[in-house]
Amino acid sequence: MLHNVLQIIFYFLMVMGSMSSSYNVLDYGAISDGYTDNSQAFLEAWNAACNAETRTPQVVVPEDMTFLVMPVIFEGPCIADKIEFMILGTIVAPSSPGFWFGIDTSQWLVFRGIRGLKVDGFGSIDGQGKGWWDQSCKLHPELEGCTKLAPTALKFLGCNDSGVSNIFFRNSPQAHILTRRCNGFRVDKLMIQSPGYAPNTDGIHIQSSHHLSIINSKISTGDDCISIGDYTSNVEIDNIDCGPGHGISIGSLGRSGNFVQVENIYVTNSRFNGTTNGARIKTWQVGRGYLRTVVFQNLKFINVKNPIIIDQNYCDVRGACKELETGVKISRIIYNAMSGTSSTNIAINLNCSRSVPCSGISMQDIQLASATIGKQVIASCTNADGQEFSVVPGPCLQPKIPI
Ligand SMILES: *[C@@H]1O[C@H](CO)[C@@H](O)[C@H](O)[C@H]1NC(C)=O
Ligand SMILES: *[C@@H]1O[C@H](CO)[C@@H](O)[C@H](O)[C@H]1NC(C)=O
Ligand SMILES: *[C@@H]1O[C@H](CO)[C@@H](O)[C@H](O)[C@H]1NC(C)=O
Repeated sequence: MLHNVLQIIFYFLMVMGSMSSSYNVLDYGAISDGYTDNSQAFLEAWNAACNAETRTPQVVVPEDMTFLVMPVIFEGPCIADKIEFMILGTIVAPSSPGFWFGIDTSQWLVFRGIRGLKVDGFGSIDGQGKGWWDQSCKLHPELEGCTKLAPTALKFLGCNDSGVSNIFFRNSPQAHILTRRCNGFRVDKLMIQSPGYAPNTDGIHIQSSHHLSIINSKISTGDDCISIGDYTSNVEIDNIDCGPGHGISIGSLGRSGNFVQVENIYVTNSRFNGTTNGARIKTWQVGRGYLRTVVFQNLKFINVKNPIIIDQNYCDVRGACKELETGVKISRIIYNAMSGTSSTNIAINLNCSRSVPCSGISMQDIQLASATIGKQVIASCTNADGQEFSVVPGPCLQPKIPI
């Protein structure tokens, strides 16, 4: 008898415990009517969770509901070691750029200065980017008051040992996800979708971050599926489907003449369909510093313009950059086991600088053909040395000449 009573009390406490650590936005006044601004309710739910002393407090955005949320910053540090943000329903952005009048147009949803954050759930984040694309200077340079900077849907700034998984992202005004100053970050099982014409809509952009993995995701967008910026190291990218999009890009690096430090980047077991690039590296001549130890392995290309490309003379306006004696040193780049088709006649294009050549390139087991039956493809290498084995089309690297 006593035993049963204790058991009931025990279960009661357990249920209480798990209840008290869940913070549903509805309990903070969120209304799922499609036009009420819910940013205050979301912030209050976040603050309650962040200040909770329970083990893993959880903010919940309930399923089968859509919540309009204005630009908002969810701020840490939080008390618990771990905190979850469960998105089961849909979060939508305001549909018109006018809602950003007078505030920072670079962001919509931001998580900042948090450790152990997990954004998860089977819900979606809809950036309603069309209004921004329609006034973008890239698509409409003639438009008076066109905009260059549009909001990134979800930013993680200074979030360590954190990650995002399972969410469906669509139609961001600009990049879908950005990490900056994050140490230890995991992206898993995301679906990211924007139309191929949507300007600057990178899938995932990484900057100044270390120890990341981006895995098991499908990305279709109007810019890079994944792009890796300056001051980034130890990044594992695996099992990604990219297309349409601009490929998986390291760069552009060194744009402002800074000292680039990027190393240990692994891109493996991924597929590119109808993209402009596959495995791409691009650096500005004004840049300095290094990009070293990069592995591209087991990649498949279908109808890709530039399956393998290094552009060390990157310039956003064709012909506007003069030849310089500076450059980001590119070394130890490994291409291994890659196959598929190219939609242009240069399937392999390593275009390196005369003054700071690419060195220690390795290519092995590469089979690239034209996407048009009967056409030939070529490999073009300029100022690039290294070794190659079983590469079609090839050879093109300069053998390493001992000095
Ligand atoms: C994240 O890690 C960096 C480097 O270790 C540290 O400086 C920063 O304070 C950490 N941030 C949080 C929110 O824990
Ligand atoms: C590649 O993309 C095209 C056009 O979207 C599609 O029809 C085709 O099924 C895709 N191929 C693969 C193997 O996914
Ligand atoms: C290499 O880069 C230079 C400078 O941007 C450009 O003029 C040239 O056409 C490129 N070569 C190839 C093969 O793409």
